[in-house]
Amino acid sequence: MTAHHRVVVFASGRGSNFAALAEAQRRDELPIEVVALLSDKPAAQALARARATDVEAVALKPRDYASRADFDHAIFDRAAQFAPDLIVLAGFMRIIDPAVVEQWRGRMINIHPSLLPKYPGLQTHQRAIDAGDAEHGASVHFVTAELDGGPVIAQVSLPVTLGDSSESLAARLLPLEHRLLIATTGLIAGGEIALDGNVVVRNGKPLAAPLHLDTDGRLG
Ligand code: GRF
Repeated sequence: MTAHHRVVVFASGRGSNFAALAEAQRRDELPIEVVALLSDKPAAQALARARATDVEAVALKPRDYASRADFDHAIFDRAAQFAPDLIVLAGFMRIIDPAVVEQWRGRMINIHPSLLPKYPGLQTHQRAIDAGDAEHGASVHFVTAELDGGPVIAQVSLPVTLGDSSESLAARLLPLEHRLLIATTGLIAGGEIALDGNVVVRNGKPLAAPLHLDTDGRLG
């Protein structure tokens, strides 16, 4: 049996993606150990969820630091103390200092609620509706200095239906996000997926296109 991947999750809010990963670990579905939850928001629900699942919960406040970069260095130094093999950004609402991002290149992923490269940034559901898109979805990508711009590993999609609001679309997407994050983390922890330069490789071969989550929760 291979050693479990040590995972640190960063979240600013609700923390449902964190909870989904912790739950998948508890069910023994993934060769991971979620060792800490770090947040920039002391009131984040994610922190309470971590404490409830016996995962160490750490909050650092940006205003306690002289600059954005100082905060980013401090919170990632704290993460490093947990010796993570992988950092998962799941609703971490900050643009991270590029020098810090570079230190974790290939070892840090983010889940973003759009079919990247469409709609980096905020209000992705509304933007998909406004554009009249027939499909929307979520992406997991390796984090690079470009906001929501790193190489995409895997995606899940769902149809946009007539009368969808940003809220209804987000609510239908969220459980799919959880499955996407679990499946993608599993491939990384299992050593199947890695970043080589700027290219995602699966079993050593470049991925021609992002993997896609099927209805069974598998990535093909
Ligand atoms: C998710 O929609 C994720 O894709 C985005 O932020 C949201 C976080 O939700 N990056 P939660 O905090 O995991 O519930």
